[in-house]
Amino acid sequence: MNGDSFKTEQATERSNDPEYEEYVRKQLELARLRRERADQIARDKLHAQMVLVGAALLIIILIVAAIIRAGHKSEQAANTSSADKPFAHVEQTDKTEPKESETPEDASSGEQNVTEDTPYAGQAEGHTLVTENGITYVDGIMIVNKTFSLPSTYDPGLDPEAEQAFNDMAGTAWSEGITLWICSGYRSYDEQVSLFEGYVNMGGLDYADSVSARPGHSEHQSGLCMDINSTDFSFEYTAEAAWLAEHCAEYGFIIRFPRGKESITGYTYEPWHLRYVGVEAAQVMKAQDLCLEEYLGVTSDYADAPNNDEFIEKYGT
Ligand code: DAL
Ligand code: ZN
Repeated sequence: MNGDSFKTEQATERSNDPEYEEYVRKQLELARLRRERADQIARDKLHAQMVLVGAALLIIILIVAAIIRAGHKSEQAANTSSADKPFAHVEQTDKTEPKESETPEDASSGEQNVTEDTPYAGQAEGHTLVTENGITYVDGIMIVNKTFSLPSTYDPGLDPEAEQAFNDMAGTAWSEGITLWICSGYRSYDEQVSLFEGYVNMGGLDYADSVSARPGHSEHQSGLCMDINSTDFSFEYTAEAAWLAEHCAEYGFIIRFPRGKESITGYTYEPWHLRYVGVEAAQVMKAQDLCLEEYLGVTSDYADAPNNDEFIEKYGT
């Protein structure tokens, strides 16, 4: 009998042994339990790794969101500060370095502060007056009236800040049962020429001057004003006109040609014509009952306009 056949015999004998069978069964069971435990540990490990990766991703997303939000906030802050001076419109004029004489300290010096050649000497005493590319700003506020004009090439469309302010205002008004819409916003120089010449043809320059602004002298060309709902004088008696008079300053608008200021603005009362000047200036003007000319210390009179002779020559008197 060789060694191999002895082992086989022994195994055959053991396989018939119930104790040995029980021993093998237990060993197999133990092996199964060990495998299950090893599997469980591997699963737990994987789970822990996934939780860690998830947490890391969440932290990254939160950091990115915080950075984006901070960016938006600083953008908003920049917009807000420019909304308080919507008329400086640096992007629409030459991007020159800010001049020292444009500082508020200079504006309160008590003398007109002219920083560039301007055809408007003597205007805006105690304020800072700047004429850039034919557009005049007093204390950073664009001024367009019978004295001050815009170049024929100035073609900005409706100012986005003014439009946004109107939309905000109209939204609040709507929630209070007041419906507001822009019936006339931006008007180009050429459109004003057509309107004005129509009136000149009907009744001459004096008649045209009494019902319309001269080309270049309409605030509608600035993109910063808008007629609301209706230009019929009956608008004065509507709830919408009353709401505007009460609330428009909260959104940076003034009733540009108020009742009682006709001799200063040069225009009859227009309850529908709003001008965007920014919240701060609008609230000061409302609180102190000042029209824009009073607030900026300027006139509104074609006799003071540097281009007055050109109009007289072109259209007669
Ligand atoms: N209705 C105002 C005066 C304008 O045309 O500018
Ligand atoms: Zn108007």
